[in-house]
Amino acid sequence: MKRIVVLSGAGLSAESGLGTFRDTDGLWTKYDLEEVATPQGFSRNPALVHDFYNARRANMRAAAPNAAHAALARLSQSPGVTLVTQNIDDLLERAGASGVIHMHGELDRALCAACGHRWTAPDVMTPDAPCPACAAGPTRPDIVWFGELPYHMETIEAAVTEADLFVSIGTSGTVYPAAGFVELARAVGAETLELNLEGSGGRFDTVREGSATDVVPGWVAEITGDA
Ligand code: NAD
Ligand code: APR
Repeated sequence: MKRIVVLSGAGLSAESGLGTFRDTDGLWTKYDLEEVATPQGFSRNPALVHDFYNARRANMRAAAPNAAHAALARLSQSPGVTLVTQNIDDLLERAGASGVIHMHGELDRALCAACGHRWTAPDVMTPDAPCPACAAGPTRPDIVWFGELPYHMETIEAAVTEADLFVSIGTSGTVYPAAGFVELARAVGAETLELNLEGSGGRFDTVREGSATDVVPGWVAEITGDA
């Protein structure tokens, strides 16, 4: 079995009803990301940030995994497969995937900015809710914001530099360091494949255009021999 790294973005969960960021009706056309997705925004107005993520958490908990999540969950059971996602939803896990690496954090988790304690986020988080461990707070969604370092970078870079195949699914490839993983893969001679609604600009050996639920299951079936 080839060593495969799959990087996914918001397009993977779009057909489950969760918004993307930079499409015509994307989240960043409705919200100022500086206000809701930066540490500075959280310091200025934590209630606004909690409202933003409380709404997204409610959407996530009401959503269901789609056929692309289910296909990747099947793939994740094969040896040598690493699923990395920029997404903060838990739809891959709810589809049965194991070992998913969330480089931008997880909406399902809360973080204490004072002591680093993490716990399952309640449906509604508020600025005055104390940390269950230290009570000092402030508590925030366990999300990596613009300007912050993503999680698990050493693990991700090790997997990408050992990959035989790097696959990008449903991401515009505009935010670093995730946007640079394809170059890292090419530098070590890995084959690169993009599965996206539209190709994101010629950086991949192969591009298969289509919605995630159309193109991902077929590709996974080819890889696992179930085609
Ligand atoms: P960046 O390239 O992501 O953004 C550069 C700056 O431009 C940031 O300050 C950001 O606020 C702003 N920006 C980015 N896209 C924008 C847009 N579409 N419209 C308006 N302003 C925009 O570089 P960065 O700030 O160093 O962020 C990269 C780090 O932040 C990485 O670690 C990444 O994983 C993380 N990140 C997390 C989120 C999130 O919402 N969880 C979003 C983006 C980046
Ligand atoms: N199937 C497949 N791809 C889709 C679908 C779909 N049904 N719908 C949209 N897409 C594609 C778009 O063509 C686009 O390439 O998904 C991508 C969405 O891009 P973005 O909105 O930029 O989302 P993403 O790439 O995940 O953003 C990266 O930016 O703001 C940060 O932290 C945030 O993790 C996010 C990061």
